[in-house]
Amino acid sequence: MVGAEMYSSSLSFLLVALGVQPGWGYVAQTPLTGEMCTQTTVAILGGGMAGVAAAQALNNASVTDFILLETREALGGRVWHTDFGVDKEGNPYVVEFGANWLQGLGSIDAINPVWALAQKYHLHNTYSNYSSLRTYNETGESDYRHLLDEYARVYEIAAREAGRILMQNLQDQTARTGLALAGWRPRKNDMAAQAVEWWNWDWEDASPPETSSFVFGMAGENLTFNQFGKANHFVTDPRGYSTIIEQAAATVFTDRPASPRLRLNTHVTAIDHSPNGVTVHTRDGDCIEAAYAICTFSLGVLQNHAVSFHPPLPKWKRTAIEKFNMGTYTKIFLQFPYTFWPTDTQFFLYASPTTRGYYPIFQAFLPDSNILVVTVVEEQAYRVERQTTEQTTAEILDVLREMFQTEIPHPTAVTYPRWSQEPWAYGSYSNWPVGTTLEMHQNLRANAGRLWFAGEATSAPYFGFLHGAWFEGQEAGAHVAALLQDRCISLREGEETCGERTHYEPLNGTTPLEAYSTVNGWPLSSTDW
Ligand SMILES: Cc1cc2nc3c(=O)[nH]c(=O)nc-3n(C[C@H](O)[C@H](O)[C@H](O)COP(=O)(O)OP(=O)(O)OC[C@H]3O[C@@H](n4cnc5c(N)ncnc54)[C@H](O)[C@@H]3O)c2cc1C
Ligand SMILES: *[C@@H]1O[C@H](CO)[C@@H](O)[C@H](O)[C@H]1NC(C)=O
Ligand SMILES: *[C@@H]1O[C@H](CO)[C@@H](O)[C@H](O)[C@H]1NC(C)=O
Ligand SMILES: *[C@@H]1O[C@H](CO)[C@@H](O)[C@H](O)[C@H]1NC(C)=O
Ligand SMILES: *[C@@H]1O[C@H](CO)[C@@H](O)[C@H](O)[C@H]1NC(C)=O
Ligand SMILES: *[C@@H]1O[C@H](CO)[C@@H](O)[C@H](O)[C@H]1NC(C)=O
Repeated sequence: MVGAEMYSSSLSFLLVALGVQPGWGYVAQTPLTGEMCTQTTVAILGGGMAGVAAAQALNNASVTDFILLETREALGGRVWHTDFGVDKEGNPYVVEFGANWLQGLGSIDAINPVWALAQKYHLHNTYSNYSSLRTYNETGESDYRHLLDEYARVYEIAAREAGRILMQNLQDQTARTGLALAGWRPRKNDMAAQAVEWWNWDWEDASPPETSSFVFGMAGENLTFNQFGKANHFVTDPRGYSTIIEQAAATVFTDRPASPRLRLNTHVTAIDHSPNGVTVHTRDGDCIEAAYAICTFSLGVLQNHAVSFHPPLPKWKRTAIEKFNMGTYTKIFLQFPYTFWPTDTQFFLYASPTTRGYYPIFQAFLPDSNILVVTVVEEQAYRVERQTTEQTTAEILDVLREMFQTEIPHPTAVTYPRWSQEPWAYGSYSNWPVGTTLEMHQNLRANAGRLWFAGEATSAPYFGFLHGAWFEGQEAGAHVAALLQDRCISLREGEETCGERTHYEPLNGTTPLEAYSTVNGWPLSSTDW
């Protein structure tokens, strides 16, 4: 076989060598390794929103020779539901462990693609009124809603300032710094203000302001809610939120359930990559050889080395993977024999007297369901994940007693996922940390040769959101199709891109060595080193 350097020199030669025929069906001519692997043009790794969008984009570009590998028995990934409790007829409710809201639905010029899918497949959802909120502390209801208005006022100022920092290429800060400079400085023992801040920041980002990028945290919120509109809709579909992913997949895998291009219950253990292509190994000892692979595994899966890469991913890619944060957002579902909370309100915010983020937000699920959902993130999420459901239930009942100052019946059902321990997710969604440039993010997103990456975390504007996963899957699929067909793709009106994605190495800092001088308070001057 010809050396790798020669392959990479000519794309069209390479395609011929790989057996890509006119019409773009991929026919194996010479196996790339000694093993007898299944041959395909594109291997899509993961069947969440990004993987399914990639499959659809390839299909739309007439690349139909691909195989999607998914470890679980169903599509959807982090859009994951379960049966829970019982309704009046004795049937279980369906609750979402993962994504639950449609966020930013769309305006005249920009439709959120997830909203478009929701409409197409008649997904049940209701307007989620974040203003329908009562506030509590350890003594019962305590009206500190004026703090919500204060935060909102400061947030406006902070968002404008973050925009200025971005546009003038100034240094990013933590969201904590940005909020403080804009006038939001809650004291550590002002637990009402801490609760209000948690509800506004941590509840969305699954990370506190200290570890969040000010610029990209603000820009992310802006781009979703200013572009697509402010509304959040809560999905309560008995088929589960993932039905829109299943149905989108059905337009591609029309031969289900026996589609040879869709392999569920197939766990990827190792990925070999070279300039010739990619070989994917599965737990069953199978292998799939592809000209390209699109890896949509979560940032958590990549960070936990749950899949091994041969050769190891390049340093710039590994650095980016370790740089971004994988947050954890845990919803705990409790069904009670009756409803003891006010039925005129959707959300109940609790300020623990001692611990920020301790069972801070309760949400009433469907009316008459007698179900409450309480959410914790990060340290509190890891804590409840480590303890038993009984321990967690006991803690929550104590909080509810304080909040509602009444006897609280024992719940008839309690459940919650343990996201940080799920081997196919290792966390819930990513967050952009402080001191992290767009170039570093591009390194997370860029292809490493024939291995492409897509998913929620690779979206610069919409990380953490389902529509981020959709856009990234779509782009990776369209991009790989264009490479296979030796053409450019248009990203939007009048903007084309050709060839691979850009990555950056090295990423230089901003301080030249000369600045390390005694004048700047440094004990040595650069010439002494
Ligand atoms: C608790 C929670 C709440 C959320 N709330 C919202 C919300 O309200 N609104 C919103 O817009 N977004 C929300 N999100 C984010 C949204 O769910 C994600 O952005 C999106 O689902 C990610 O899609 P993806 O395709 O990038 O990744 P995934 O869905 O993780 O898809 C990757 C797939 O790869 C599979 N996989 C992993 N490892 C392997 C392996 N070794 N072999 C084979 N397959 C493997 C996984 O099983 C998975 O199906 C939430 C997420 C969570 C967890
Ligand atoms: C594929 O094409 C269909 C029909 O035009 C479109 O609705 C869908 O959004 C496309 N999918 C992707 C991922 O671009
Ligand atoms: C949301 O709730 C607030 C507070 O109860 C209420 O004033 C407002 O009208 C509600 N909005 C909608 C659209 O229902
Ligand atoms: C809790 O709320 C009550 C009533 O509003 C108030 O008097 C009390 O100081 C609050 N507790 C804390 C710790 O702020
Ligand atoms: C957020 O939106 C506001 C209002 O449109 C704008 O002034 C600001 O620059 C934006 N900030 C960022 C970080 O995008
Ligand atoms: C990074 O710094 C090195 C050494 O000063 C320089 O040669 C290189 O061009 C810089 N790279 C970029 C991308 O600025």
